[in-house]
Amino acid sequence: MPIIATHFVPVARAADVPRGSMLEVTVGPRNILLCHTRDGWFATDNVCTHAYAKLSEGRLRKTRLICPLHGGAFDCRTGEAIGSPAVAPLTAYAVRVTGENVEIAVGEQSADS
Ligand code: FES
Repeated sequence: MPIIATHFVPVARAADVPRGSMLEVTVGPRNILLCHTRDGWFATDNVCTHAYAKLSEGRLRKTRLICPLHGGAFDCRTGEAIGSPAVAPLTAYAVRVTGENVEIAVGEQSADS
């Protein structure tokens, strides 16, 4: 999905999201899932691509996101669908920690996305 402009937006305090947990955040119109894993911080869209379910209500196992509705799975590092019945990937967002804050990169999407 082409992005034409990106900026980082603070979404949480790092201390409020312990390793192994996740947090639903809203950035403008986007419902995003912030994941704090042993491999670092990651963010993807929070709504499953299979049907409508919030992944924040599912489980995070290492870097594997498991959907609460049908058990589809995604890699939270990339958004890639890794478990049936999920097939389409989630949009993934860059994450950085600056001081106490966790920030997510959101962008303006180009017209062809
Ligand atoms: S809604 Fe997520 S796997 Fe079906």
